[in-house]
Amino acid sequence: MLADRQGRSFKYLRLSVTDACNFRCTYCLPNGYVRPLDHEAPLSVDEISRLVRGFARLGIEKVRLTGGEPTTRRDIVEIARRVRAVDGVRTIAVSTNGYRLTELAPELAAAGVTQVNVSVDSLAPERYRAITGHDSLPAVLAGIDRAIARGLVVKVNAVLLRDENDAEIERFIEWTKDSPVSVRFIELMRTGDNELFFLRRHSPLQVIERRLQALGYTPRARQATDGPAVTYAHAERAGTIGLIAPYSKDFCVSCNRLRVTSRGALRLCLFGDQNASLRHLLQRDDDREAIATFVRAALVEKAPSHRLHQGDVGNARNLAQMGG
Ligand code: 5AD
Ligand code: SF4
Repeated sequence: MLADRQGRSFKYLRLSVTDACNFRCTYCLPNGYVRPLDHEAPLSVDEISRLVRGFARLGIEKVRLTGGEPTTRRDIVEIARRVRAVDGVRTIAVSTNGYRLTELAPELAAAGVTQVNVSVDSLAPERYRAITGHDSLPAVLAGIDRAIARGLVVKVNAVLLRDENDAEIERFIEWTKDSPVSVRFIELMRTGDNELFFLRRHSPLQVIERRLQALGYTPRARQATDGPAVTYAHAERAGTIGLIAPYSKDFCVSCNRLRVTSRGALRLCLFGDQNASLRHLLQRDDDREAIATFVRAALVEKAPSHRLHQGDVGNARNLAQMGG
C-alpha cells in the first residue's frame, strides 16, 4: 500500500479532467474561466485510463473526477466508463456544479459512477445566482433528485460565506431531515486569487458545530478511509452533515488523497508548490510500473501539513486550476 513518512496511507485519487468551468463562483473564478495563453490540452481518455491503471497498481481504490467543471467535457461519461474498467477501482465519484446533472445522472450511474458531490452554496435562487453567476438552482436541485433516484450517493457542498449564506445554515440542516443527502459545509480557503474576498467572507465553522450538537447530532467515529471531513449523524434523520475545516488543528493528519491536474501533473497537496508532470509516462500502454515508481518517489516529499495559517497558499491561484 502507498504510505508516506507520516504514516498516512493513500487509496484515493482526485483527478482533474479539465481546468475549465462555466460558473463564476465569487470565491473561485469571479471573472469566469479564462483560457491561459499557454493552454495545454487536458489528458485524453487514453491518458486517463493509463494513469488510473498506474495508480491502481499502487492500491488506489477510489477515484474522483473533478475540474474545473468535469461535465464541460463532452466525453465525461466515456471517461467514467474507462476508469470504472480499471481493475482495483471500486468507487468513482464526480464533483460537479450540477448544471448538467439532470441529463447526466442516469448516464453516469450506468457508466459505473457511485457518488456525486454537487456544489450548492445557497438554497435561495437569487443568492445562488449572485454567488455562481448562474440562475440554475432549480435545475441543479432537480439533478440532485434524479441522481438520488438513480441510486447515486449524493453529497452537497456548501462553502460557508460570512454575511452571505450563513443565515441559511438551518435551512441546509433541515434539508437532510427527510432527504438522504449529506450536506457538507466547507470553510472558505484562501487562495492566490481570492485574498480580499477571503478577508471579507471567511467564517469558521464552530457556529455550525454548536448548532448540530444542540440539535442532537453526534460526530461519527472516523473510519480509516475517511478524509478530513468530520461527519455528524442524527438517529431520526435521513441525511448527515459534514464539516470540512481546513484551518482546524490536525486537518492534514487524516489526508488520504493524491491529486493529478488536468495536464497530468502530480500534486501532493492543494496548497503545495510542486507540480511534477507524469504525462510523459502516459503515452504508451505498458508504463504502469514507471508511473508507480514516479509516484512512490514523489510521495517522499509530501509535507506533513499545509501552511495556510502562515498565509502561504503555495501556488494555488484558485481551486478550479487543480480540482478542489
Ligand atoms: N474555499 C473553499 N471551497 C472552495 N471550493 C472552491 N474554491 C474554494 C475555496 N477557495 C469548493 C467548491 C466545490 C469544491 C470542489 O470546492 O465550492 O464545492
Ligand atoms: Fe466552477 Fe467549482 Fe470554481 Fe464554482 S467553485 S467557479 S463551479 S470550479
